[in-house]
Amino acid sequence: MRKIIHIVVAAMVFTVGGVVPHAAAAPAATGVEILDPRVNPRDRDAIQRGARNFVNYCLGCHSVKYLRYNRLAADTGMPEDLVQEHLILGEQEIHDHMLSAMAPEDGEAWLGMAPPDLSLTTRVRGEKWVYTFLNGFYRDEGATHGANNILQEGTSMPHMLAGLQGMPEPVYGDDGETVVGVQRSGDAGGALSEAEYLEFTADIVSFMVYAAEPIRADRERIGIWVILFLIVLTGVFYLLKREYWKDVH
Ligand code: HEC
Repeated sequence: MRKIIHIVVAAMVFTVGGVVPHAAAAPAATGVEILDPRVNPRDRDAIQRGARNFVNYCLGCHSVKYLRYNRLAADTGMPEDLVQEHLILGEQEIHDHMLSAMAPEDGEAWLGMAPPDLSLTTRVRGEKWVYTFLNGFYRDEGATHGANNILQEGTSMPHMLAGLQGMPEPVYGDDGETVVGVQRSGDAGGALSEAEYLEFTADIVSFMVYAAEPIRADRERIGIWVILFLIVLTGVFYLLKREYWKDVH
């Protein structure tokens, strides 16, 4: 019986291991406040809003090359015709991958580097990093695009959401030189309030977390059934064992 318990516990740990979210990669910058988007992988509304935000503000430069529009539609419960109408820009079709219209050469010519594909970025960088990055732009007249980022000094990405957030001012550390944060509170001149902007960017991160592993919700659902199944199976085996051994003394 002890052995059976060991096997079952090992199997459960193994299965649950796949259910536990991946540890986020540790952010590199020191002294910078790292923000948590509190992504709930089962919140389909947040993923839908994030997909809309992403298409409108990011897809112009960044692809999500492993994700197809019809997969997104199926996973988030959006009707395909609505996806076709509202999320697909240009010539693309519902079964196409979410590719950016920007050619890498153009990215290099216009921005100094081709914008990277963002399919796996939340897994490589961690969702907190991405969230903090989107909330980490600040005014820097010396930078090429007029903005810098607390997590990526000298970033080639312009602050694409400045119209919504405004342009936050940098906050300096004790040495009066190092930028350790951004002045988010107060009116930075954007269309959204601070709270709305935080939600807007958290939704984008929710979408990116989903895009990095569309199978995750399924996997978690299946994982629970597998565990229940193993528990029932243990009971059955135990009864069977008792039956077999009942005459052996
Ligand atoms: C005008 C083109 C452009 C748009 C639009 C744009 N980006 Fe970027 N982005 C870039 C470029 C270029 C880089 C590379 C920056 C660098 O490494 O210096 C980048 C880098 C990033 C990174 C860091 C990737 C990494 O691993 O280093 C993230 C995350 C990101 N962008 C997210 C977004 C999101 C989310 C949006 C939409 C809100 C967006 N970007 C819109 C051009 C763009």
